[in-house]
Amino acid sequence: MFRASSKVLVSAFALVTVVSAQDSILSTLSTTCVSALKGLLVAPEAQCLNAGAFLSIAASGNIDVPSIATKWLTGLCATGSCSTASLTTIVQNVTAGCAQDVKTAFNIDISDPSVILPYVEQYYPSVRQIACLKDDSANTLCVPQTLTNLQNIIGPLGTDDLNMDTILADAQKIAASDYKNLACTSCAKQAYSVAAKVFPDPSLLASVNGSITDTCGASFTDGQNVTTVSQTAVNGQFEVKTTSRAVAGFSPITTAGAILVAISSAFTLLV
Ligand SMILES: *[C@@H]1O[C@H](CO)[C@@H](O)[C@H](O)[C@H]1NC(C)=O
Ligand SMILES: *[C@@H]1O[C@H](CO)[C@@H](O)[C@H](O)[C@H]1NC(C)=O
Ligand SMILES: *[C@@H]1O[C@H](CO)[C@@H](O)[C@H](O)[C@H]1NC(C)=O
Repeated sequence: MFRASSKVLVSAFALVTVVSAQDSILSTLSTTCVSALKGLLVAPEAQCLNAGAFLSIAASGNIDVPSIATKWLTGLCATGSCSTASLTTIVQNVTAGCAQDVKTAFNIDISDPSVILPYVEQYYPSVRQIACLKDDSANTLCVPQTLTNLQNIIGPLGTDDLNMDTILADAQKIAASDYKNLACTSCAKQAYSVAAKVFPDPSLLASVNGSITDTCGASFTDGQNVTTVSQTAVNGQFEVKTTSRAVAGFSPITTAGAILVAISSAFTLLV
């Protein structure tokens, strides 16, 4: 009865691990893709994603993933949301720079931003809401809390968990652990409530409902808000300020950035 949720956990973990695999993935990125990503760190339009936080995180040399997530998301959530114009520029730059890389790695064609943009615009608000959830009883943002719970099972997240053997071993650790502590938290329930409202395929959601309620209890999917989990995302839109910033070295930043992109996706998958 745990099968579906285990699979979700395993995929989420595999995603974090694979994307954080700096040597195997990121060092193979084309220079145009790297410079598009590098551009995001200093682009005024990307300040609504608090992308610049990775510059100071990288400079500090800190690779404790939950604390990186706390630092990044605390800033992101205190910043207004990205305007459609900002999202458009971000997507255009990244698709222009990285389409060939994505095509080569995953055989997915993202070269036309007008195909990608509607999805980004549709899901961005919910992803931001999930990223900014906070467990008030623990006084911790939900994403770092979940990552800490994950680390308690599999050990510190980092660029070492690279190969398939490690992924499988860690997946086994998760399956053998009492992973309700990871999957059935107040944070996860609230994230589920937010995600379920915008989930593109209601019949798929209904089909995994049984496994989720078997694992976490019927109240997990009742759609009610969890009173001890609050929303820290500020309302309103971030106003782009066109002050220029210095470009910093990139290597550690790619790792932190990639891990965190993976984290947001993973957290969405977790629920
Ligand atoms: C997009 O690319 C242009 C030209 O390189 C750059 O000036 C701009 O800051 C970039 N914007 C983003 C959001 O990356
Ligand atoms: C999942 O099951 C719960 C409890 O049985 C129910 O309240 C909820 O509406 C179901 N959700 C979906 C998407 O079927
Ligand atoms: C949960 O909270 C959101 C945001 O405050 C609100 O829009 C929604 O109606 C609430 N849902 C329920 C079931 O109370």
